[in-house]
Amino acid sequence: MKIGILGAGFVGRAIAKLAIGAGHEVMLSNSRSPNTLFSLKPMLGCETGTALEAARFGELVVIAVPLTAIDALPKAELQGKPLLDAVNYYPDRDGHIEILDTRQITTSELVAQTLGTVRVTKAFNAIPMTQLESDGLPQGVANRRALPLAGDDIEGKRIATTLYDAFGFDVVDAGALAEGWRFERGMPAYCVRMTKRELEETLSVSQRG
Ligand SMILES: NC(=O)c1ccc[n+]([C@@H]2O[C@H](COP(=O)([O-])OP(=O)(O)OC[C@H]3O[C@@H](n4cnc5c(N)ncnc54)[C@H](OP(=O)(O)O)[C@@H]3O)[C@@H](O)[C@H]2O)c1
Repeated sequence: MKIGILGAGFVGRAIAKLAIGAGHEVMLSNSRSPNTLFSLKPMLGCETGTALEAARFGELVVIAVPLTAIDALPKAELQGKPLLDAVNYYPDRDGHIEILDTRQITTSELVAQTLGTVRVTKAFNAIPMTQLESDGLPQGVANRRALPLAGDDIEGKRIATTLYDAFGFDVVDAGALAEGWRFERGMPAYCVRMTKRELEETLSVSQRG
């Protein structure tokens, strides 16, 4: 599958590397210019481009930018495509956003609202990228780590599930996009190593606020 990645930092690079290893074609992009990604092309075996080009390239698009950059993404090009949203909200870094602080909306719902699309699946946000690269295990191995996802787009969830598994992780579906708070920053399931059973249990007993 062709995967366009918006953001070429820790998240963009880690997902690019693993996706290429799993046989996918990837285009990485950033806000400055593909020239600043020059060395990534031979290092990872990816294409590089502008955010617009990566959005056009991807049959799937991964959002791997700071929350503050969402509004600057090429919205028109993203319409109708399945999007995987790895974005987290850190007020110290991103500034305070009242509707998130008061829990009127989840981070991924805000991303979907800002982009004007409904095909957003929350995925890859609840694991440090160093561990995404180091913790993967084959299917069936005892204590395989599980990762959560949430969303309303069945196809997006199916793709996220396939990628998680290819990268070496079990999957726990936390439900609709509105349930994404269950593995946002600060929740018990956020960035903690858990098996599928442990993660299912933790997500189900989590309490908002
Ligand atoms: N680091 C982790 O382990 C981790 C894990 C899970 C989730 N996350 C979340 O994922 C998001 C990205 O984290 P990160 O650690 O990868 O950040 P990062 O290393 O700072 O990288 C951010 C990337 O976004 C690019 N960018 C900014 N504005 C853009 C735009 N308008 N169009 C295209 N690209 C743009 C930046 O490019 P320029 O430098 O050219 O601006 C940079 O390549 C954050 O919300 C973070 O909280 C991080």
